[in-house]
Order: sequence, then C-alpha cells, then structure tokens
Amino acid sequence: QANSTDAAKRRAAVWAASQVEDGMKVGLGTGSTSALVIEEVGRRVAEGLRITAIATSEASQKQALGLKIPMSDFAHLPQLDLTIDGADEVQEGTLYLIKGHGGALLREKIVAIASKKLIIAVDPRKLVKTLGAVFTLPVEIVPFGFETTMRRLKDLGFDCELRMNDDGKPFVTDGQHYIAHCKLPQVGFDAKQAAEKLKATVGVVEHGLFLGMASKVVIGGPEGIQVLEA
Ligand code: A5P
Repeated sequence: QANSTDAAKRRAAVWAASQVEDGMKVGLGTGSTSALVIEEVGRRVAEGLRITAIATSEASQKQALGLKIPMSDFAHLPQLDLTIDGADEVQEGTLYLIKGHGGALLREKIVAIASKKLIIAVDPRKLVKTLGAVFTLPVEIVPFGFETTMRRLKDLGFDCELRMNDDGKPFVTDGQHYIAHCKLPQVGFDAKQAAEKLKATVGVVEHGLFLGMASKVVIGGPEGIQVLEA
C-alpha cells in the first residue's frame, strides 16, 4: 500500500513538474507530494530549465535552495505563472480542496492566489465526494484569545480541536499562528457559505477551503495519471 501510494504521488508529481516551462515564475507547494515535485523541478533546473520560484513553507524553501532552484520573493515577483501544490482532499466535480494539514495553508493560499494557474498533484486517496469526509478542516487562528475564537467557531457549527505537537504544546505555523482542526458537517454542507462564515470570524486568519482556485488536479495511479480540469 505505502509503495503504491508513493508511486502514485511520484507519477502525479512528475506530470505536474512537466508543466513548468522555461522562463516561468513558479510557486512551490508543501507536503510529501510537493517535495517530489520540487525534486523533479530541481532535476530539470540542473538540466538547464530557467525559472524563478517562491516557496509556500520554510521546509520547501530549504529543499528548493538545496537543489539550487533560484528562489525569490513577492517584492521581485508580483505575479506567478504557475503554482504546483498538494491537497488533503479534492471534491470530485467541483475541484474544491481542503488544504493545510501540512501546517502551511496561509502561505499556500497567498502563493496560489498570486498565481495565474494552480495545479494540484495528489494520489487517489485524496478524492472525496464531500469535503471533510476523511479530513478535518484546518483553520489558522491568532494565538491571543484562541479559546474564545474556538468557542465562536463552535457556535457557528464548527467543532474544532487545537493542533498540538508531540511535546504537548500547540503547533505554531510559519506565520506564528495556531491551527484549529474543525469537523465539517457531512449533511447539507455548503462549502461557499462555510468559507464566508470562517472568513468573517474575528481571530481567524485564514482557512483551508480552496474553492474555485485549482485549474487542474492530477491524480497519479498504478498505471498512469488522470487530469481533471476546472
Ligand atoms: C500543506 O499544508 C497541505 O496543504 C499539503 O498540500 C497536503 O498536506 C498534502 O500533503 P501530502 O502531499 O504529503 O499528502
């Protein structure tokens, strides 16, 4: 199982990386599939591909620099041509996503929104009929008063738990925030309405619902790949 999932991720990653063209400004995602994308982009850069990139996390930045991918920032690259990232769940049909289980949703969303195109690379386990079927929704919140923010989220119907580290302390994001993992109601769930409610909650910095953002989703499988388009 682990090996077939790894092979599926790699197939999806290699196809996604093949969409990067010479001269592009590229956003690099976070997670194990994105790490494979970065590895493949790094291989192509070593072969002569010329790109400039921005990473969605410190971990991806470090990996990309190690592979000598030229890295930049938004002071120098106001817009990106293409971002490639992973996802935790992809809803069949709509290509709505849950992202953020790698703890990088805020930077991922900032990079994705600054990109003309967003390609999501996943293995088949990520496809769901309803968002929240397998994963909780990560919501990035300000540490000050997180208890009261989480109570207000509960009043709105989001039952959340604070993400903790193994040492018993709250997990802190690259942006110095906390993450609340929220259960999504499975009956009558309206993703757009939920996104609006979350965005309007004081103390919430950003949430992991990526709606209408993915241009393509590539799913790696045992034999090959499947590409879904928005
Ligand atoms: C990071 O915050 C997430 O949005 C990742 O994109 C997601 O967790 C995918 O990770 P894997 O490729 O490791 O499944």
